[in-house]
Amino acid sequence: MSTTGSADQAGSARGIDSTLVENRLFPPRDAAESGFARWHVGSMAEYRALHRRSVEDPEGFWREEAARLNWFRPFTRVLEWSAPDAKWFTGGTLNACHNCVDRHVESGFGETVALVWEGEPVGGPWGAGPEVRRLTYRELMIETGRCANALRALGVTRGDVVTIYMPMVPELAVAVLACARLGAAHSVIFGGFAPHAIAERAADAGSRVIVTADGGYRRGEIVPLLANVDEGVRALANQGHVVNHVLVLDRVGASARGDAFRSGEARIGPTRYHWWRDAVGGASGACPCAEMDSEDMLFLLYTSGSTGKPKGILHTTGGYLAFVQMTARLTFNLAPDAGQLFWCSADVGWITGHSYVLYGPLMNRVTTLMYEGAPNFPRQDRFWDIIARHGVTQFYTAPTAIRTFMKWGDELPAGHDLSSLRLLGTVGEPINPEAWMWYHRHIGRERCPVVDTYWQTETGGHVVTPLPGAIGTKPGSCTLPMPGIDAAIVNERGEELPPNRGGLFVIRRPWPGMLRGVYGNRERFVSNYWGRVKDPATGAPFYFSADGARRDTDGYFWIQGRIDDVIKVSGHLLGTMEVESALVSHPAVAEAAVVGVPHDIKGSAIVAFVTLRPAWLAREGRAADDALKKELGAHVAREVGALARPEQVRFAEGLPKTRSGKIMRRLLRDVAAGVEKITQDTTTLEDFSVVARLRDDEE
Ligand code: WTA
Repeated sequence: MSTTGSADQAGSARGIDSTLVENRLFPPRDAAESGFARWHVGSMAEYRALHRRSVEDPEGFWREEAARLNWFRPFTRVLEWSAPDAKWFTGGTLNACHNCVDRHVESGFGETVALVWEGEPVGGPWGAGPEVRRLTYRELMIETGRCANALRALGVTRGDVVTIYMPMVPELAVAVLACARLGAAHSVIFGGFAPHAIAERAADAGSRVIVTADGGYRRGEIVPLLANVDEGVRALANQGHVVNHVLVLDRVGASARGDAFRSGEARIGPTRYHWWRDAVGGASGACPCAEMDSEDMLFLLYTSGSTGKPKGILHTTGGYLAFVQMTARLTFNLAPDAGQLFWCSADVGWITGHSYVLYGPLMNRVTTLMYEGAPNFPRQDRFWDIIARHGVTQFYTAPTAIRTFMKWGDELPAGHDLSSLRLLGTVGEPINPEAWMWYHRHIGRERCPVVDTYWQTETGGHVVTPLPGAIGTKPGSCTLPMPGIDAAIVNERGEELPPNRGGLFVIRRPWPGMLRGVYGNRERFVSNYWGRVKDPATGAPFYFSADGARRDTDGYFWIQGRIDDVIKVSGHLLGTMEVESALVSHPAVAEAAVVGVPHDIKGSAIVAFVTLRPAWLAREGRAADDALKKELGAHVAREVGALARPEQVRFAEGLPKTRSGKIMRRLLRDVAAGVEKITQDTTTLEDFSVVARLRDDEE
């Protein structure tokens, strides 16, 4: 890699709006300059050698990484690969909770703090400061033991799927790890999703037990989690799916007010509800970790796809753990006993929270910080206050959050002592160079490496990212592949493209953290990820991420974004079909098409084009007006979740379609983005007047 002509620009006063951003390179620093004792990978030569070894001798490479885990029975084979099916570390048995918790207690680190948690509320009953809880590895072992025993008493056994819908509280970590302890799979649903989403996912997973809380705190308000679960349970019952038990954490005090239920009571149909403090609080903390096969399911995590139905991404035990412990260690330079406090601000309801709030740091015996609430409660400097008060050393967040912080003003971070920080990370979408530079200057104070980590729910962990001591960074680029990842940019025929040509992002060989399936839908697994691009030499399928990207002349990857019909709103994936289905479920709507448009803070925002049912409007005495637009927005928020609420709803007389009846989304995207001239080929349009009308109609 050439650094000529760029290293000297690093950290200089060059304007951040430069269009020559690609040439701006920040070489890695000495570990000590950023506050680390050493880097795990300390030079470009070392990275190159490591990556080369990982592709030339993948079995040897991964055998060594897997040896960092604690196996009850050692594996006999590293990989059995029959594309697209991989089995990693076969013959081996282990337990995920044991690897995150028990083994540290067994090796004498029971008193080390595993988890630091801060609640959102401040003032009032919480006194001057927020509520803070610290759980040592020993305490976490006992709590997961109790919770596992409580779940077992509710009939949960190995192989079951437990649905978890909770606020960001320690008990969420406990519930996740308790499932792993028992050998049950967890399916965590983000607390911002609506009842319909809970029901859909629980039904798909065949889940009979739900763990939730009476509520959670968010921006000073209470999120009604229990009420949402009630509604979900009722909807499931109507479909003939009985949830046997709901375990409810008393977080906001409904049980204390006595306005709810008594533990064990059947509340909705035959569904029994139990308070956490009775069921978990009264259980024994001693519960052995189940001995699981390496390929046993560890969890399902639902993610949006280009069809209406979310996909249950399936991860198994040994491979996921081996990959996540490695990526967490190398990307964030995690090390035990080095005074590190790692904070990933993602919700555990997303893959980032699974891999880098919980599994990654805990496997590495590093203390992980969890914060319950919003970044602007009670003020817009809450995150900087948390970093300063707790002495956070590595901080990992999303570009959408960084853009929000930029908008809130430089004075807010400037007013806090952020000197504990050693490293910064971002994830979720491409970061614009301006935001990268702001993060680097105002949060990292030009001292901390910034790691832009590219990956997906499906990849389990980072697949392209700088290793902080080895790989120089360029604002906006996720740089180079993780050791063990054979990433490439190819065309539709699978041929690798020369530098600076945009193409498809693929991974050409299996890696341990890869998804093993889409739950209950083999066809979708094969066609979504393995059906599009093949090795031109052998015809074997490549993994395709659905992202477009290019590599520059240094081999650095620049992710351009999704090429399918999913939209990233504030870093959260939403399927256009999901939102469209919600819209057409409203009686006013005949047809809907949803597209993403660039948005300064959210990255993308949703614009919905809707055709109405005149008969319904007439019957109800309604008009195509702003009130109806508002109502449709609220309807989507209710059906899918607030993050899916369209930024803009636009009414159209008809939607532009090809002769085969496919909605021309690219064209709608241009219309929505206000592109002046329609440059795309419209000869297949069935009704040109529709386009004209839409464009005339612009607000
Ligand atoms: C996008 C989140 C550019 C990408 C971990 C991917 C990114 C999708 C980056 C997966 C990044 C994630 N740079 N794009 N650093 N990280 N993406 O499953 O489009 O919620 O396919 O996983 O996010 O989103 P998911």
